[in-house]
Amino acid sequence: MVISNLYTPKQIEVLKTVLRRKDWRLLINYGAVRSGKTVVDNDVFLMELRRIRKLADSLDVDEPMYILAGYSSKSLQNNVLQELTNKYGIEFKFDKHGSFKLFGVKVVQTFTGSIAGLGAIRGMTSFGAYVNEASLANEIVFNEILDRCSAPDARIICDTNPDVPTHYLKKDYIDNQDQNAGIISYHFIIDDNKFLPKEYIERKKAGTPSGMFYDRSILGLWVSGEGMVYRDFNKETMVIPHDKLPDDLTYYAGVDWGYEHKGTIVVMADDKAGNTYLIEEHTKQFEEIDYWIQIARGIQERYGSRIKFWADSARPEYVARFRREKFNCANAKKHVLSGIESVAMLMKQGHFFVVKEAIDYFLDEIYQYVWNEKTGEPQKLNDDVMDATRYAEYNQHLRVVAKPKAKPSYLR
Ligand SMILES: Nc1ncnc2c1ncn2[C@@H]1O[C@H](COP(=O)(O)OP(=O)(O)O)[C@@H](O)[C@H]1O
Ligand SMILES: [Mg+2]
Repeated sequence: MVISNLYTPKQIEVLKTVLRRKDWRLLINYGAVRSGKTVVDNDVFLMELRRIRKLADSLDVDEPMYILAGYSSKSLQNNVLQELTNKYGIEFKFDKHGSFKLFGVKVVQTFTGSIAGLGAIRGMTSFGAYVNEASLANEIVFNEILDRCSAPDARIICDTNPDVPTHYLKKDYIDNQDQNAGIISYHFIIDDNKFLPKEYIERKKAGTPSGMFYDRSILGLWVSGEGMVYRDFNKETMVIPHDKLPDDLTYYAGVDWGYEHKGTIVVMADDKAGNTYLIEEHTKQFEEIDYWIQIARGIQERYGSRIKFWADSARPEYVARFRREKFNCANAKKHVLSGIESVAMLMKQGHFFVVKEAIDYFLDEIYQYVWNEKTGEPQKLNDDVMDATRYAEYNQHLRVVAKPKAKPSYLR
């Protein structure tokens, strides 16, 4: 078997470094989604366990320990353990703490998504660590993992998607030029993955929203958004007259409560061809809940009593009131980036339309809806219709959208 049949050129570079260089402590594989980062890290993980077993023998250590870290138990299972089982037939036998022994090394699992991850590794002396999806790791937990790796020649391997450029993993580690720190990083782009069919990559590129989403998930860059959030919005093609609306639609609504700020209810509709239409927008400032109940009644009369209202959960008393009034009202999941991504994807793919006669503030807002480069999220200004639209779109189609991305740890 030729090695280029087993690995991509980028993965081979990583493996060569791991095998030949002795002077590194931290290896970070970062970049595009599905570019081959985890596959190579999984193999480096196994190589590391073998190296550590040998090292432990020479040091007369019975049971060397190793940290396996991931955002959650589920993500670690899917990204690492299940993959190793599928590829090499490795069966893991867990003890009651979720630890297991492999190649004579005790592997302790810890979850980096919350500070609770500290408990599993506190006080431990580790011969190394593997941190999957490192940018999602709580910074305190990440630092603790590095501190725990205090055995001789301990090494840490990470893979990660990019985040904002001010993320600690980028600023403090990838950009660290200090030779003594022993940090090596590799930048992966989606084209690096020779195992993905060309058509898949082309489709993925064509379907990924322009700007930040494309730069991160296709080009693997640590960027924040800048300028307009919905760059692919095109007034000429996406604003359509009411008589162009197809029939046989599925209707649902999004609600952003407001008083000082404007309140908004939008009605959206999906056709059978995968298009989504914004067909009504009701936006008003200084109105109490009774006003919104009247608006929602009208919507029920036009689109049926079971129409779903995806509502901002920040005002539970309003959601409760809607339910008492017998509206089919649910708390919307509010992951900002995932919500925006799901609307932006429809726009990029030419599946998003707004009905000209129906909109009031929509156009005003969409051109003013811009990224805040510091937070990596949109500026919270004149965003009421934008919020209601993404609550409706994202929640109605949750089944087809990638898993929500966690906020960078310093925003949590
Ligand atoms: N060396 C490889 N051999 C075979 N398939 C690979 C290899 N590297 C990547 N792949 C394929 O590409 C997919 C994405 O790789 P993965 O490492 O999970 O990407 P990332 O972690 O960058 O999102 C894998 O699920 C697998 O199908
Ligand atoms: Mg991965």
